[in-house]
Amino acid sequence: MSVALLGTGLLGTAIGQRLLEQGQSLHAWNRHADRLQALTALGASACADPATAVRASDWVITVLSDGPATRSVLERSGLIAADAADAAGGTDTGNGRRRVVLQMGTIAPGESRELARAVTGTGNAYLELPVLGSRPEALTGTLQVMAAGPEPLFQEALPLLRLLGTEPQLLGPVGAALETKLALNQLIASLTHAFSLSLHLVRGSGVEVERFMGLLRASALYAPTFDKKLQRMLENDYSQPNFPTAHLRKDLELFLAAARARGLDTGGLEGLARLLAAAAGGELDDLDYSALHRLTAPGEAGDG
Ligand SMILES: NC(=O)c1ccc[n+]([C@@H]2O[C@H](COP(=O)([O-])OP(=O)(O)OC[C@H]3O[C@@H](n4cnc5c(N)ncnc54)[C@H](OP(=O)(O)O)[C@@H]3O)[C@@H](O)[C@H]2O)c1
Repeated sequence: MSVALLGTGLLGTAIGQRLLEQGQSLHAWNRHADRLQALTALGASACADPATAVRASDWVITVLSDGPATRSVLERSGLIAADAADAAGGTDTGNGRRRVVLQMGTIAPGESRELARAVTGTGNAYLELPVLGSRPEALTGTLQVMAAGPEPLFQEALPLLRLLGTEPQLLGPVGAALETKLALNQLIASLTHAFSLSLHLVRGSGVEVERFMGLLRASALYAPTFDKKLQRMLENDYSQPNFPTAHLRKDLELFLAAARARGLDTGGLEGLARLLAAAAGGELDDLDYSALHRLTAPGEAGDG
């Protein structure tokens, strides 16, 4: 299979690496070309612009930060018309061949529905494909792959999706997979926040953390993510992130918007969104998201 990979950030690079290791031919593009090096060293061809990558491929994977970035890159690739009024447009992607866009970034469900309309409007195909898991899972082909779109397209994409995740699932029409993804990422934010507050309180009380953890692990309240993040929180070390704080904030805001649109009362969660918003643009943005442990105890800077 010939695959265009648009976006080689943390997750995109790991997905590209996996596809190369599985013998796929990869044409990669990234806004900052220096982030292509890890993949070209493994055999990917580096493309100077997204349209070049798309022309060489049948499948187009996008792993970009957010909805607007994804839209602008798909416009530059010729897969959607730059002007919405020019729906029959789109630049020539080459040979009149239909491309399938596999959109893997976490974006708003409404943005995804608009992208689907625009991509199909130029005679191409669109599958929404957010994933749960991070770089380690991408590298080992064990991502949880959630799909949304037409069933025949999902079946067509399955051989490729099975290289990335063990049991890709079709969840419904476009929008459904992203709402599911946001539902899961809300839990990442909420569980990390809840654990952080409790950990700070326990440490302040002087009770040994291991005794607290023993009680927690033996209870129905335990979630594996607590132990996964415990060491980072104790050592106040959030370096080498697989999923940075800036993306957690983005996903929480996307969740809140989606939940409000469904008439849910999001009041209980808005405090966490405010906490993360106040840190925007600061040093936490590029650190592992568990750095929100610093936000829950502002008086304890440097003291995990
Ligand atoms: N990391 C994870 O564990 C994980 C897991 C599941 C889902 N996701 C989702 O996957 C997406 C990518 O995440 P990531 O962790 O790979 O993020 P990242 O390392 O920050 O990479 C972001 C990518 O988007 C590109 N980009 C951002 N703004 C752009 C613009 N205006 N025009 C063109 N390109 C632009 C970046 O290009 P430059 O390199 O040039 O800045 C880079 O390729 C996000 O939606 C994230 O929520 C991530």
